[in-house]
Amino acid sequence: MANFSPSFLDEVLSRTDIIEIIGRHVELKKSGSNMMGLCPFHHEKSGSFSVSADKQLYYCFGCGKGGGAFQFLIEHDGYSFPEAVEYLAEKAGMEIPQGNERDPGEEARQKKAYTLLSRASDAMGRALHSPAGHKASEYLKQRGLPAAIIRDYGLGYTPAGYGFMQKIFGNDGRSNAGLESVGLLFKGDHGYGDRFRDRLMFTIRDRRGRVVGFGGRVLGDGEPKYLNSAETDYFHKSDLLYGFSEHRDFIRKNKQLVVVEGYMDVLAMAAHGLKIGLAPLGTAIGERQIREIFRLCDSPVFSFDGDRAGRQAAWRALERMMPLLKAELTPRFLYLPDGEDPDSILKAEGADAFQKRLDNDSKHVLETWLMGLKLLAGSGPGGKARMAKKADNMLETMTDRYLRQEWKQEIEQATGIKLQYARQQAMNKPESQQDEQRAMPLPELTHRQERFMTGLMQKPERFRSLPDIARYYFIDNDALNSLYSHAFSIQTDAEDNNTDIARQLAQDFPACQTLISRWVNQATVLQLEFESLSLDMESNDIERRIKKGLSFEELIPTQRRFNEIKQLQKQLSEQIQSERE
Ligand code: UTP
Ligand code: MN
Repeated sequence: MANFSPSFLDEVLSRTDIIEIIGRHVELKKSGSNMMGLCPFHHEKSGSFSVSADKQLYYCFGCGKGGGAFQFLIEHDGYSFPEAVEYLAEKAGMEIPQGNERDPGEEARQKKAYTLLSRASDAMGRALHSPAGHKASEYLKQRGLPAAIIRDYGLGYTPAGYGFMQKIFGNDGRSNAGLESVGLLFKGDHGYGDRFRDRLMFTIRDRRGRVVGFGGRVLGDGEPKYLNSAETDYFHKSDLLYGFSEHRDFIRKNKQLVVVEGYMDVLAMAAHGLKIGLAPLGTAIGERQIREIFRLCDSPVFSFDGDRAGRQAAWRALERMMPLLKAELTPRFLYLPDGEDPDSILKAEGADAFQKRLDNDSKHVLETWLMGLKLLAGSGPGGKARMAKKADNMLETMTDRYLRQEWKQEIEQATGIKLQYARQQAMNKPESQQDEQRAMPLPELTHRQERFMTGLMQKPERFRSLPDIARYYFIDNDALNSLYSHAFSIQTDAEDNNTDIARQLAQDFPACQTLISRWVNQATVLQLEFESLSLDMESNDIERRIKKGLSFEELIPTQRRFNEIKQLQKQLSEQIQSERE
C-alpha cells in the first residue's frame, strides 16, 4: 500500500478545505467558531455534527464519528486511504509522488505490472492493424468506430492460438509469472497459455488512467461473448467503470453523465461526441460505483434495455442507490425500446435523437421507484399492502430524511396505506468498519481531562503556560499520556504558535483522529475555565506524587504549592461564578 510522506500529506491537507468537502453533503451553518449541521452518518433532527474550519476536523456529538478530510472521504464516500489522498491531491493540482512505497520490492513489482499491462495494450493495438487483425479491424469499421476512438480508447486484437504474449515478453519463468499476475496468462496442465485468443480487445483503465485489465469480445459467435481479465491485485471489476478516466473531465465540465451497460455503448457515444458514458464491467452496478458516479455528476442518467432483464437491472441499481440518495441528487432512469442499447439507437437515430431521449424520456428516480413497486405488487388482492411493505423496507435504507419524507408521502398516496418504519434504522456501515472502531485503543478521560485537552487543542499556545512538570500529568493513563506528551513536545518544539497541533497529532495518531476531532469541536474553553482546569490537573498530579511517596526535599515545596493551588482554585471559581451572574 502506498505510504505517503508526512510532508506530502500535510501539503495535501493544507490545500484542502474540509468545509467544501463536507459542504457537498451537509448543509453547514456557522455556530461560534465552528460550523454545524445534520450528521451525515446518522439520522438526527437537530444538528450535532460540528466541523472546525480552523482545525479542519469534524466531529458528531450524536454518533461519535469524527476525523479530518481523509477520514471523511473514507467513511462517507467510501474511499480507501490512498484513494482519498490521491483524490484530494489531484483536486489540489498536486503530483502524486512516485516511489513512495513502504516496501521497495512491492513498489518495483507494481511498477512492472502496470508497465506490462500498458505494453500489452499497445501490442494488442498493433496486432489490430497487422494482417492477423484484419478481421477485427473490419469488424470495427462495420460497427462504425472511427480510427481516433480506436486509438484513444486502446482497442486491440489478440490473435488466435497460443503464444502471443510470450512472443512479446519472453517465455522464461519470470515473464510468465509476471504475465500471470496481471491476468494475461493462465497456468494450465501444459504450461502457460494466453487468456485472450482471437478476440477484439477493450483496454480498461483505472481512475488514474493506468491500464489495469481488458475485456475481450468474440468475433462472430462463441462463448463467452465477453471475457474480462481475471480478478488480480490490479483489476477489481466491481470497483471499475469503463470510460471513467477518459470521460471524467468532460463529464464534470458538461454536468452530464450516462451509465450504460456495455463497452460498445460507451464507445459509440464517444464516437458521436458524447464523451459522457460510463459502464460497469458486466456486473450489476455496485454501491462504490454509484458513489463514484454521484461524485462526478449529481444528475446522472442510468440507461437500461426496456426488456425484463433491463428492468430488473434498473431495480437493482435503484436499490443500491437508495442509501446514497440526497435531495441534491437527481438521478434519472432511461428505458430504451426492447432489445436496443445506446449503440444501436445512435446508429439508427443519431446523436440528437439520443440526446432527446435522455432529456425527455428519462424518468426521475422517484417515478422509477413508484413504477417498479407497482410492477412488483401486481394487480391482485394484497398488492397494495405488498407494495407498502416493500416500500417501507426500502425507505429504511434511505439516509436523507427530507427525501425519505417526500418519498414516504408519495407511496402513501399511491397505496392509501400509512407506512411505519418497522425498525429504527441502523447505521448502514459495513460491519468491518464498526469492528475497526471498536478495536481502537482509545484513552478514557474524565470530564475535566476532556475539557483540559479541548482547551489545549483550541489554543495550543496554552501549552506554554503550563509548568514543566505538566509533561507528566497523565503518566498513569498510557493512551492519553502518549497523545498528550506528543502534543506537548510538538508545541514546545514549535518555533511559533502557528503549528496546527490538532492536525499534526491526528496525523501522528491516526487511530485517535476521532477523539482529537471531538476535542477540537467541543464548546470553547474560555481562559478562566482553562486556568481552573489546569490547576486541577496540577493538584491531581501532586496527589498522585504524594501517594507514590515524595523525597524529604520535595515534601515542603510540594505541600506549599498544593495549598496555593487550593487557594487559587477557590478564587477562580468565585471569579467564574461572578462572571456568570
Ligand atoms: P451485451 O451483450 O449487451 O453486449 O453486454 P454489448 O455491449 O451490447 O456488445 P455488442 O454491441 O453486442 O458488441 C453488455 C456488457 O455486459 C458485459 C460486457 O461488459 C458487455 O459490454 N458482458 C456481456 C460480459 O461481461 N460477458 C458476457 O458474456 C456478455
Ligand atoms: Mn450492443
